[in-house]
Amino acid sequence: MVGTGRTLLLNTGARLPAIGLGTYEARDVASIKKGIELGYRQIDTAMYYLNEAEVGQAVRECGVPREELFVTTKLWCTFHSRVRESFESSMEKLGLEYIDLFMMHWPTALNPNGNHPYEPTLPDGSSDIQKDWDFIKTWADMQKLLDTGRVRAIGVSNFSTVNLDKLLAAPTTTVVPAVNQVELHPYLPQFKLLNYCKEKGIVLTGYSPLGSVSAPLLQEKVVIEMAERLGKTPAQVILSWAVTRGTSVIPKSVNPQRQLSNLDDFVMAPEDMALIDDISKTTQKRIVTSSWGQGTFHDDEF
Ligand code: A2P
Repeated sequence: MVGTGRTLLLNTGARLPAIGLGTYEARDVASIKKGIELGYRQIDTAMYYLNEAEVGQAVRECGVPREELFVTTKLWCTFHSRVRESFESSMEKLGLEYIDLFMMHWPTALNPNGNHPYEPTLPDGSSDIQKDWDFIKTWADMQKLLDTGRVRAIGVSNFSTVNLDKLLAAPTTTVVPAVNQVELHPYLPQFKLLNYCKEKGIVLTGYSPLGSVSAPLLQEKVVIEMAERLGKTPAQVILSWAVTRGTSVIPKSVNPQRQLSNLDDFVMAPEDMALIDDISKTTQKRIVTSSWGQGTFHDDEF
């Protein structure tokens, strides 16, 4: 095993391997299997990625016992009012007896009968939002899935502290999300959201931990200097910062060498943590944007 092998304790009692394999745009079964072979034990997919069949095949055929793997998939926005149907469709594509985590991909419900099955738009090009639907109802339906025995935990994604407060305060909410998956990296460290989630016992997972396409964070002077001083790669510095602050990460790479080296994390010293924390004092940005995500992050930006 490379790296520290750190895991995060979920409010269900299960453990989430801290560094996971992001599969957005990964369609090749062999490359997903390769990731598992290299040591990834958390595999993150979604209905929206259109690769649940490939991910499921890789999980079934990889040779690693199912109970050693943590598999996540997500409910897409056009399925908020069809939770059971979406879940059954994902399970059929995955071909697995159970999944470890089922997430609401976004708080936004999109029109299930619009002009596109996943990204419906209005004539003016904006997202066709299902205005008569509230994610509180989606969550109530997701809670029922736990009774099937085929979902070990339920979670949310792209939830702000405002939306989490609303969800937790709802009379129908009996289950606290196990995980909230959001964009998280040194340009968007989300200190307020991290503290909030820690207080509520919700694990925060960061997507685009290197800053997404072209990995801009790897060019930061402070990151490069620290990597040289510690004999690590810039990506290991960023990912180790994320894991040391108690979050999970799902870095993406199509290159097996980088996939392996991204798993090789270390425990970062407090003074180095502070240096990386400071990056957002000069550069703050959200990199991943979508029309259905507009207005959903409230004042949690930094
Ligand atoms: P590649 O697939 O060619 O490795 P994020 O996880 O933030 O979405 O970032 C993914 C981007 O970072 C991809 O473009 C990926 O390219 C690149 N990347 C991933 N790991 C590394 C690494 N260790 N060193 C350099 N670039 C990396």
